[in-house]
Amino acid sequence: MTDADSLQTEVAALERELMRAIGAAGETATLEQVRVAALGRKGRITELMHGLPALAPAERKRAGAAFNAVRDRIAAAIAARQRALHEAEVEARLRAEALDVTLPPRPTDRGTIHPVSQVTEEIIAIFADMGFTVAEGPDIEDDFHNFTALNIPPEHPARQMHDTFYLEAAPGAAPMVLRTHTSPVQIRAMRAGPPPYRVIAPGRTFRRDSDQTHTPMFHQVEGLVIDRSTHMGNLKGCLEEFGRAFFEVENLRMRFRPSHFPFTEPSAEVDIGCRRKGNELVIGAGEDWLEILGCGMVHPRVLEHVGLDPETHQGFAFGMGIDRVAMLKYGIPDLRAFFESDLRWLRHYGFAALDVPGLAMGLAR
Ligand code: DAH
Repeated sequence: MTDADSLQTEVAALERELMRAIGAAGETATLEQVRVAALGRKGRITELMHGLPALAPAERKRAGAAFNAVRDRIAAAIAARQRALHEAEVEARLRAEALDVTLPPRPTDRGTIHPVSQVTEEIIAIFADMGFTVAEGPDIEDDFHNFTALNIPPEHPARQMHDTFYLEAAPGAAPMVLRTHTSPVQIRAMRAGPPPYRVIAPGRTFRRDSDQTHTPMFHQVEGLVIDRSTHMGNLKGCLEEFGRAFFEVENLRMRFRPSHFPFTEPSAEVDIGCRRKGNELVIGAGEDWLEILGCGMVHPRVLEHVGLDPETHQGFAFGMGIDRVAMLKYGIPDLRAFFESDLRWLRHYGFAALDVPGLAMGLAR
């Protein structure tokens, strides 16, 4: 065997060994080590090449060509392996980070929707279906919006009845208040643009009061419809429609009882029929009555406060306690529990997170 032959045998053995190592490299980092060990400046192939000058010229040429071919095959194998490993790594990462957005929603059995949120959504769904939009106002109101513009002047006894929370006043300024009702949103809605108006405004309200049926923070929804010819019949029809849809009782008994509010004239309170059987309360039928809201034709002075002419525009308003109708509809006895964040209570009275109320699907399931 010539020197060249033994050198070539050695190279062939090395090629097999390296090919095995390349095939065995499971990640790009290992493959890089194989590459450096073979083709790097101090790599084994490079070192074998250093043996070439010692050969006779004819053999050197033959062996050189063969070596180069081996080196190229190794380099090509490494490159191919590199591509394959890279693809596999990208593949694995995509698989690990995949989000299957096609999965159908699974009902959660943990979080529930609070009855106030649920009932607010139900009320919005019903009025949205009648063409109302939702309006909002701030929890911290000024005296004008909460009282004066609603025809409750400074000495008016209704101010006392509201048990108002006052904020500390800036020197020389009137104190701001935590809004005692959602009625100030009527004023804001009317000042925001020209009539007609057809809005509801659900939100938080505040009064200094606390017992089984009163909490310092509670929720109301306000309604306002102003146009050129909106009359008391429209008010009645609208609220009857609401009552039937909300309590899901087709022949809901309802009565409009004369009342008084400074911001409406005439004013009425609305009762729904009910029957009390022991501890049970049945809504809709029966001889008893339950008050659910206040309403009336918007007082001309309120319209004047927002720059509307009572000779050309008129309409109705109503205000309803959301917590109260939630208690009635879902048989929840104590209002205070609404705001105690007791998980057991929330699991019992809460609603499935994905059952969004809508008229087509039924309000609550
Ligand atoms: N703001 C009244 C309250 O909190 C409720 C109310 C009564 C609102 C009659 C109205 C209405 O819009 O017309 O007691």
